Amino acid sequence: MTWVVERLASRRGVLRGAALGALVLAASCAAAEPVQALVVHRDPGCGCCHVWVAHMQQTARFEASVRDEADMPALKRRLGVPADLASCHTAEVAGFIIEGHVPAADVQRLLRERPRGVVGLATPGMPLGSPGMEQADGTSEAFDVFAFRADGSREVFTHHVARA
Ligand code: CU
Ligand code: CU
Repeated sequence: MTWVVERLASRRGVLRGAALGALVLAASCAAAEPVQALVVHRDPGCGCCHVWVAHMQQTARFEASVRDEADMPALKRRLGVPADLASCHTAEVAGFIIEGHVPAADVQRLLRERPRGVVGLATPGMPLGSPGMEQADGTSEAFDVFAFRADGSREVFTHHVARA
């Protein structure tokens, strides 16, 4: 009888250890990169936004919801996007503003590093070959992703080189 109890106890101990391990593993993964809600504002007449949203969703790190807006310039002003950094869609994630066709990897780095004073990232204009602006021949022009602050100051966060 005693050995049965002992065996049960040790088995339970092993199971508890495994469960704890799984919990710790899940917690550390979640702490590293949680799935983030991504709210994407777009002009209903714009076609490239959905392609960028698909690019973001492919990472499985973003849960996107898309909102059609009648007045994107007003929305950009309200969210504090510097006028000269404007693109088509404007997204919100974890308290940051993401303007235009910013690569998902840059957004993920922003969320990891959270540089002091930075309120968002922007890819101004519509660079050919940027995520959501893919070209049929696979080429891409060089473009910069800027990190901007509330006062409109900014610096280059990532420089993306041209692909021939
Ligand atoms: Cu668009
Ligand atoms: Cu666009």
